Amino acid sequence: MKKQQLTIALSKGRILKETLPLLETANIIPAEDIFSSRKLIFDTNHANIKLVIIRATDVPTYVEYGGADMGIAGKDVLMEHGGKGLYEPLDLEIAKCKLMVAGLKGAPELQGRIKVATKFVNIAKRYFASQGQQIDVIKLYGAMELAPIMGLADRIVDIVDTGNTLVANGLEPMDFIANVSSRLVVGQAPMKLKYRQIQPILDMLSQAILQRRSAVEVG
Ligand code: ATP
Ligand code: PRP
Repeated sequence: MKKQQLTIALSKGRILKETLPLLETANIIPAEDIFSSRKLIFDTNHANIKLVIIRATDVPTYVEYGGADMGIAGKDVLMEHGGKGLYEPLDLEIAKCKLMVAGLKGAPELQGRIKVATKFVNIAKRYFASQGQQIDVIKLYGAMELAPIMGLADRIVDIVDTGNTLVANGLEPMDFIANVSSRLVVGQAPMKLKYRQIQPILDMLSQAILQRRSAVEVG
């Protein structure tokens, strides 16, 4: 039977550097160097598999609406999107970090309605609602750490890894929201209609994750 076309959406930016070696271990290799090209669609060593390179936040949207069959995105991005129309079969265990609430170092506990700056608007609303805390959300697209310093917000919701960015800006982590790593997502329709092609990729990626995990444990 002729193989159907499969499109995998990859987040450009920080995840891509860790994604490509994982895909390579799973024998999915771009036909040309993604980093030195301005192209957005890439052929691979498999005639029926293509890669599209898009912004991290657009990956779940592409997969939800069938613009791509599968994708790789951070759990933060998936939580913010809500996961509608997506299966999340694999934790790729890369780009690990945390979603945290942070504020100015030593800032007092706040009473009443507070201002929270973040690009994770839905996550912030859900988290503070679960804590019974009323908030006004201020949507930003980056450099969230600046918001409390400039008096724009009382708290931020952002990614924390080493904590260096917080420290460098006089902030401190306050509340833990969620652990984050990159996940493989598959659209609900392709999971049914293209399962014969998707299943071996899931198997190869699972093997690649295990190999990577043992390499990290040994190293
Ligand atoms: P966009 O450009 O679409 O706004 P972005 O700037 O958040 O997205 P990246 O910085 O490349 O994109 O981050 C992609 C993903 O990498 C995030 O969604 C998150 O899962 C993870 N990530 C972000 N910052 C860190 C970090 N400091 N350490 C580890 N992983 C991180
Ligand atoms: C991310 C995140 C924090 C920083 C946390 O930003 O938004 O600012 O990493 O990492 P740390 O705890 O190790 O310092 P990124 O470097 O991706 O830049 P961005 O603001 O352009 O997304």
